[in-house]
Amino acid sequence: RSLVVGIRCNRRWFSQGSLPAQPKSRVAQFKEELAALTAKAYKGGGQERIDKQHEKGKLTARERLEILLDEGSFIEYDQLLEHRCAEFGMEKQKYPGDSVVTGQGAINGRLVFVFSQDFTVLGGSLSEAHSLKIQKIMDKAMRVGAPVIGLNDSGGARIQEGVDSLGGYAEIFQRNVLASGVVPQLSVIMGPCAGGAVYSPALTDFIIMVENTSHLFITGPQVVKTVTHEDVTTAELGGAAVHTKISGVAHLSAENEIDALQATRRLFNFLPLNNKEQAPRRYTQDRRDRQELSLGRIVPDDPNTPYDMHEIIKKIVDDNDFYEIMPAYAQNIICGFARLEGRTVGVVGNQPLHLAGCLDIDASVKGARFVRFCDCFNIPILTMVDVPGFLPGLSQEQGGIIRNGAKLLYAYAEATVPKLTVITRKAYGGAYDVMASKHLRGDINLAWPNSEIAVMGAAGAVNIIFRGLDGSRTKAEVEKYERLFANPLTAARRGYIDAVIEPHTTRTRLCMELDALLHKQLSNPWKKHGNIPL
Ligand code: HXC
Repeated sequence: RSLVVGIRCNRRWFSQGSLPAQPKSRVAQFKEELAALTAKAYKGGGQERIDKQHEKGKLTARERLEILLDEGSFIEYDQLLEHRCAEFGMEKQKYPGDSVVTGQGAINGRLVFVFSQDFTVLGGSLSEAHSLKIQKIMDKAMRVGAPVIGLNDSGGARIQEGVDSLGGYAEIFQRNVLASGVVPQLSVIMGPCAGGAVYSPALTDFIIMVENTSHLFITGPQVVKTVTHEDVTTAELGGAAVHTKISGVAHLSAENEIDALQATRRLFNFLPLNNKEQAPRRYTQDRRDRQELSLGRIVPDDPNTPYDMHEIIKKIVDDNDFYEIMPAYAQNIICGFARLEGRTVGVVGNQPLHLAGCLDIDASVKGARFVRFCDCFNIPILTMVDVPGFLPGLSQEQGGIIRNGAKLLYAYAEATVPKLTVITRKAYGGAYDVMASKHLRGDINLAWPNSEIAVMGAAGAVNIIFRGLDGSRTKAEVEKYERLFANPLTAARRGYIDAVIEPHTTRTRLCMELDALLHKQLSNPWKKHGNIPL
């Protein structure tokens, strides 16, 4: 009321035309300035560059965050932070917030720290200021125990800043390494990411790329042409297809930015916030005692006929919901997340459809990294085994299958999370040992009745033991070997298999076992860190 009276009084005064306008208070002036700066920060590099970004089929840094995070959950940090470079005319190129938007938000109500590089500001290039903003959210994420998601769209080091920019990268790399195994780190590549800049995403746990508009490479086509005289496109060097199918650098690709961000949200939902917590439990109506009779009909009688392990995995887990990681790379091993009675499990399975499910170099590395991720973050590992062994051949041996195969072995042997193993058919040779066997501290090792647990297939074994035998003796020895090892009995008699179960009871049994393992306590001997063969 007093305000209204005041205004009326002022009007009367002014109408008499006797007094000049009152000067704005200092605070009012500051607020106006702040509002202008905030508005500028929201515009990034300006409308023209935003339009350019949209023309390329790309969203802006802020639009991406809107899709990634729960509505209204984003709290921005350092919106006004500016770079301090005065070289090459840079003092005239200041943008509030510089070339990255950072802060905290939520995904399905759970805390996450984010950075989103703004390509409209100097190509999203990484300045000292840009780096400081990312460092701040990473430090905070580690202090409070919450994941970090980076949305990458950048021309790399801010060329005008020189070593300040390089130092800025290294500060981030250092934090990526310190955060590794402490909080999950996810990277989404939504534009260029080149040069040394690629190593920040490479140090994170999962990389998701957008098809056609994103690329990751150490040196671009021009440098390649100069050095190796090869003519290559950016897509051939580091597009989503290359990294999800050939190099194994990226874990997933999505058709467009919206799909990539939705995929990131889904992945996030499977994960705990940090290494001291369990993954969130999701409500499901899928009952523990659901018996899937069709499971008994998937594995063919002929041991050499392939089948799709995906089918088995989906029929066992909650709601057929399986989130596969690296689906297009080393397809002879399947890795991904699923749930049993709402609890996240990491699933690793041999895939008889590809290379008969043999372990090769790529599959070993893919599996090892996944197993280690699960172990870091308290995610039980369900291993579905149908493996005829390591893939033989010159290229495998010369490529270092010994060193690389050892990675998977090391990862399983080191893992202390609950390990549940189901042998659906073959478990041969060293690969039997590797795939979460009882001997590598498997907590529960189950086998279906048609399993074969042996050093190798019967014909191969007899060929080696009885070289040169006549046909009828060979046949008899093969039959004997099959009788002894082409079933899970010998292993069960030794206790290497805890139980032989009917396929349709697998889900029920695994849910019960997982329940019992909830409070499992197991730790490795003290060490600074192990020395996994790299
Ligand atoms: C400063 C940069 C920049 C950079 C782009 N810009 N990259 N500014 N430092 N690294 C600016 C451009 O000048 C331009 O400014 C705007 O961003 C958009 O760039 P365009 O070239 O117009 O966009 P586009 O045609 O889409 O090409 C994008 C690009 C290209 C492929 C990323 O800009 C490019 O090749 N940039 C340089 C990449 C690079 O060599 N980076 C250093 C890598 S080495 P205006 O004002 O016109 O909008 C590295 C070392 C890291 O990163 C080491 C860590 C250990």
